[in-house]
Amino acid sequence: MRRAALQAVVLAGLASACTGTIGAATPGPDPVFPTDGGVLEDGGCAPVSRNDEVRLALAGACAGCHLAGSRPYWASLTAFEALVYDPKYVTRGDPDNSLLVKLFKGTAPGSFPQMPPGERYDALLARGGASMSIADVERWIRELPPQGAVVAEPMPERFTVRRLTAEEMILSAMSQLGLTLEDFVDTSSPDWRTEEYTVRGGRFFIWPKDWAPGISRQYVSDARTVERYEALGGMAALDNRGKDVSIGPAAMQTLVQQSQAWCRRALEKPGNTAVLRHVALADRSATKAAEIKRNIGALHLRMLSEPATDATIEALYTRVYLPGEAQSTKAGWTAVCASFMRHPLWLSF
Ligand code: HEC
Repeated sequence: MRRAALQAVVLAGLASACTGTIGAATPGPDPVFPTDGGVLEDGGCAPVSRNDEVRLALAGACAGCHLAGSRPYWASLTAFEALVYDPKYVTRGDPDNSLLVKLFKGTAPGSFPQMPPGERYDALLARGGASMSIADVERWIRELPPQGAVVAEPMPERFTVRRLTAEEMILSAMSQLGLTLEDFVDTSSPDWRTEEYTVRGGRFFIWPKDWAPGISRQYVSDARTVERYEALGGMAALDNRGKDVSIGPAAMQTLVQQSQAWCRRALEKPGNTAVLRHVALADRSATKAAEIKRNIGALHLRMLSEPATDATIEALYTRVYLPGEAQSTKAGWTAVCASFMRHPLWLSF
């Protein structure tokens, strides 16, 4: 289902998809968080229901620790509703008897009296780190619709974490980096899939044999296109090969090369702001350090679906970006971008 959706996205020329999930593999526009009144920045996905609106409004304060692991409440609307409709946490219509509200207020019994654990929610709110007031949370619980009032996409694997499949790695990388099939092959002929075709010069194409019916290993200029795909653990129905989502040396080696080649390609693509939103390639640390750090933070959010802490941004700036910039700004940004593609959060689902 998810993969079919991903394929449809890419094959439709990467029109942005609105899946309503906040996840590392989510294709489409940047992860979006609502501003006041539920209007979304960047013209991104609109929430699909009131509960989804609340989920997105709280994401900035809560999703950082609850996207994966044993309590991935923010990973999708379904996961969030598993929390919302658990009577242990929420009594519908009765915020005063809802543990969730006590967590916001810092008055919950047990070893975690408040969420987020490090800082009182009202303090976070006061300094602008959250947008939904506790009174709004209470109002929402008072008016909470019955469970199932809104049909959400089933997500049976919601409490497990696994590595992305090869297809997901290819499609979400393309989407996040602002690349399309056209960057790799000429798709102007309607029969391009069944004809021999040339991979545009040295572009490190990765594509499954199954997605190119009729041709087998005829990628004229780049015979390793299919080989790389198989190294990533991609399946090949024609060869009876199943999916392999283990993280072995072949997959990692291919991913390292892919991350570098594709990030560089994204930086070289004219007019592509997927990687550089807040700086230009010509900007250097001597005069634009603040913008560079801001861009590192934005890219972290875009690719890992999690806001970066200041310490993380600083570490990426000094240890990853600056050493690369000594060679060229392109090398600096390639290093930052490629490091995200090899991050466990990027690789997992
Ligand atoms: C800095 C990380 C962090 C942030 C941010 C965070 N949480 Fe948690 N949350 C935790 C940890 C750690 C636990 C306990 C883990 C466990 O029991 O598995 C937890 C547990 C919970 C629980 C279960 C509590 C219980 O007693 O059973 C709920 C509900 C929860 N968080 C909601 C939230 C909400 C709502 C927010 C945003 C306001 C939030 N969390 C933000 C780390 C975080």
